Amino acid sequence: MEKVSIEALMEHAREARKKAIAPYSSFSVGAALLASDGSVVTGCNIENAAYSVCCCAERVALFKALSEGVRSFSAIAVCGGRDEEVPCPPCGVCRQALAEYADAESFMVYTMEASGIFGMTLSEYLPKSFSKKELK
Ligand code: THU
Repeated sequence: MEKVSIEALMEHAREARKKAIAPYSSFSVGAALLASDGSVVTGCNIENAAYSVCCCAERVALFKALSEGVRSFSAIAVCGGRDEEVPCPPCGVCRQALAEYADAESFMVYTMEASGIFGMTLSEYLPKSFSKKELK
């Protein structure tokens, strides 16, 4: 599997954002999830008239990948905004969903900042998280 650069991963997210279904918020988000085998699975946010049914781009990408049997991930790139791109850090639900399938210490979350692509680990986004280790 070929190596995917961070810029290329963000470009996948940008392409996915074009498919966002966001008639209520007008906030379109794209995500590109990098699996440990080098493959990329994308997602966009999907909204619903019953707002609580809306699903974020990150979870759409994650659930698409999981449903295809992919179980190990190394990074995600996220971009979002109304007309222009603005920084779009993953929401708390998506952080928790990703943490279930990633090594949070090494899994990278890339977002778009004014200065360019910004990377931080998932454990920095979700410190002291509840996980399967608590259920032991
Ligand atoms: N949204 C995402 O898709 N990902 C995020 O990380 C934050 C928010 C979506 C949900 C909703 O459709 C819209 O953006 C506004 O909250």
